[in-house]
Amino acid sequence: ETVEWEAASYDMGGHDTYMHKEISEQADAVDRVLRGRIDEKFSTVHLGGLNLDAREARGIRRVKILGCGTSYHAGMIGASLIEGLARIPADSEPASEFRYRNPVVDPDTLYIAVSQSGETYDVLAAVQELKRKGARVLGVVNVVGSAIAREADGGVYVHAGPEVCVVSTKCFTNTVVAFALLALHLGRIRDLSVADGKRIIEGLRKLPGQIQEILAAEEDIKKLAAEYADAKSMMFIGRVRGYPVALEASLKLKEISYIHAEAYPASELKHGPLALIEPAMPTVAIVPNDSLLEKNRAAMEEIKARSGRILAVAHQEQEKADHTILVPKNEDELDPILMGIPLQLLAYHTALALGRDIDKPRNLAKSVTVE
Ligand code: G6P
Repeated sequence: ETVEWEAASYDMGGHDTYMHKEISEQADAVDRVLRGRIDEKFSTVHLGGLNLDAREARGIRRVKILGCGTSYHAGMIGASLIEGLARIPADSEPASEFRYRNPVVDPDTLYIAVSQSGETYDVLAAVQELKRKGARVLGVVNVVGSAIAREADGGVYVHAGPEVCVVSTKCFTNTVVAFALLALHLGRIRDLSVADGKRIIEGLRKLPGQIQEILAAEEDIKKLAAEYADAKSMMFIGRVRGYPVALEASLKLKEISYIHAEAYPASELKHGPLALIEPAMPTVAIVPNDSLLEKNRAAMEEIKARSGRILAVAHQEQEKADHTILVPKNEDELDPILMGIPLQLLAYHTALALGRDIDKPRNLAKSVTVE
């Protein structure tokens, strides 16, 4: 059983599709998830529903994040934020994989269930199993009062607002921002300095304006989509923080355009996928200006040497790439939030050029409430 498409219930607000409307709403949505939560005095955030006191937060030795689809990818970025800012080992795993492998449930691990709908069965079942075994489970959920939100011990609401398009865009972005808030909160209870707390808060405040800047370049991205829409298949690469961005962008492209896409850590190219590179398989490379810039350039060089076409998403023009989509720079930790947004537009315009049913792609449901 799946939740029926609720298209009739929301106004499209002058957009041709819900997906376009939801992509366009992201600056406001991010503003909402931040609102009322920032604590300037202590360079941290208040998360009212967390239900986790400072002593408990200090006792966490590991964080395990569980979700499906886009929420699993948001959880991957969440894990890197928690590891980076709070220095707690963290990872994200598909909820279904977790629940079927009889996981070791450890009392010092904080479990976090991620879900837009709050109704995805595999996530709910994982939460129920964890609760039964005495674990502490938080929810990072969009729909208020949903099954997962009710089942969890506490959590952070994502406040993305209603998302109608089957594929998730604004909720993905807001979920990652919610994780940044949680990571900052945990970090400031542990070893993150006041100065670093301030730096992250300033970065968070910049996000809505920077998102608007990215969205303002939609016409350029549309032209690029026309250029790459003939691809038989597409490769997405990124490193460390860029890798989940590549995974999510590749998922978005396959879901709505039906073009086959793969995502790889850039460092893994030489261990197999380089064999696929040819002009009919262009690569989208996530290339932030961080300590891995030279490594990412080297990967692009390898692709060029095999006559692959490259579209880079970067903070500065990339000469190895055939095209570069420029995004504004934020703090390294927050860059993944911005780098995914032009790729939502790329998937959107590719699907549009191919005449796909964007809001309701074949074989997919907004919410999968069965196993
Ligand atoms: C379905 C949707 C995906 C979504 C996933 C998880 O597969 O098509 O877009 O990412 O479910 O949904 P959730 O509501 O738990 O985030």
